[in-house]
Amino acid sequence: MADLDGIKDSHNYHLDKPVRSQPFPLKGCGALDWGMQNRLANIFDRRSGHTVMLAVDHGYFMGPTTGLERMDIDIVPLLDHADTLMCTRGILRSTMPSTFNKGVVLRASGGPSILKELSDEEIAVGMEDALRLNVSAVAVQVFIGGQFETRSVHNMTRLVDAGNRFGMPVLGVTAVGKELTRDAQYMRLATRICAELGAAYVKTYYVDQGFETVAAACPVPIVIAGGKKIPEFDALTMAYRAIQEGAAGVDMGRNIFQAAAPIPMIQAVRKVVHEGMQPAEAFDFYRAAQAGR
Ligand code: R5P
Repeated sequence: MADLDGIKDSHNYHLDKPVRSQPFPLKGCGALDWGMQNRLANIFDRRSGHTVMLAVDHGYFMGPTTGLERMDIDIVPLLDHADTLMCTRGILRSTMPSTFNKGVVLRASGGPSILKELSDEEIAVGMEDALRLNVSAVAVQVFIGGQFETRSVHNMTRLVDAGNRFGMPVLGVTAVGKELTRDAQYMRLATRICAELGAAYVKTYYVDQGFETVAAACPVPIVIAGGKKIPEFDALTMAYRAIQEGAAGVDMGRNIFQAAAPIPMIQAVRKVVHEGMQPAEAFDFYRAAQAGR
């Protein structure tokens, strides 16, 4: 009778306080299921609402590109500074420590290498394996205007259907073919299509003119890719502008792992994304950290 002996007949239901009900803070994600929201909360920081995703999935079509030759040596030390890791299942299983307990966004499309037509992708990961790997989202390339546009959109919608069954968010990645113009008009089109067809959030590129219209017209969060390596100050400026103009974060690869000092660079990117630090100050921070000050 030990269970019953200590029971007190006094309770505090806090009748003077209304039951708290907190809306999920991410744009356009309030109606998602609890599991889906919980996974997104592994990606976006609770305080700032933003994310620094470290993108290291390039090998799925580029092979061992500069900076990713030895990911055990050059990428694993960056993990402590990222909110989220974006990679392939091969690198996740072979190289990333399973003690990493932040969000993983799993590359889930692939097929052609840089030697072929890139838009010719298929789904490359089953939802069951994504669940087995305990990832927080799957990412799929969408080639609006590309040769295999319809198939790439269909890849995304099939992943969205599978993801909705299990509470797995899908990141729609807008990939811009060489023949297309990277401007706000194109980005509005591509990001909106991804969101309309079910992506929980969308990755795009920053454009100098009109990015705020891209962010405004997309009903779910947008993160920007870093793109090709540019000077560190310019990359910090791009991240700053994107955040100020409505992006919810960055999914940055080459501008971090190809930087002269990758750890100071990801730390500086964090200052911009989470604290709104101005580019000049973030660059000073980068140089001081690089010099060991
Ligand atoms: C490219 O297709 C990959 O998905 C990368 O994750 C993405 O481009 C972001 O990396 P980066 O900042 O190097 O452009």
